[in-house]
Amino acid sequence: MYKVGIITSSDKGSQGLREDKGGPKIREILEQFADDFTTAEYTILPDEKDQLAAEMIRMADDLGMDLIITTGGTGFSKRDVTPEATLSVITRRTPGIPEAMRSISLAITMRAMLSRAEAGIRNDSLIINLPGSPKAIEEVLGPILPSLKHGLDILQGRDAECARH
Ligand code: MTE
Repeated sequence: MYKVGIITSSDKGSQGLREDKGGPKIREILEQFADDFTTAEYTILPDEKDQLAAEMIRMADDLGMDLIITTGGTGFSKRDVTPEATLSVITRRTPGIPEAMRSISLAITMRAMLSRAEAGIRNDSLIINLPGSPKAIEEVLGPILPSLKHGLDILQGRDAECARH
């Protein structure tokens, strides 16, 4: 069972001015994969790079979250800094994950090209960025979760073999 930490990046959400729909949507989808993943932490922060980075470090290093999923802050607004916060705390990028998300998403909307989402590894934890909209989360998270589980199995040494799929 992998522990998941969810971070919503939203100025308005963090001030209570907008209901966060992204975080609960992630939790809802994870419940469909309850054999492998459980939501263990959930935070809403403003779009501030240093605060986001510090929370990713806390979730990975102090709380031992296996998977940290962020939502929001990946677009072109000047306040969108989640990818930059992510890049500042990971040691190895995993470009195939955002490539897969964009590939799935581009078949649905060309606007998927506007997400600057990143993903990468920090020690035993995997950090991935999702866009903020619940619709986008619905479209990409379910399809990628089985492969994320396999990646975590390899990262943490629970599985040495890549079974052929
Ligand atoms: N990906 C999917 N699958 N579906 C979507 O509707 N919306 C896009 C993109 N990715 C979208 C998507 C849009 S309109 C934007 S602006 C970017 O995600 C960035 O969103 P964010 O700033 O909320 O992170």
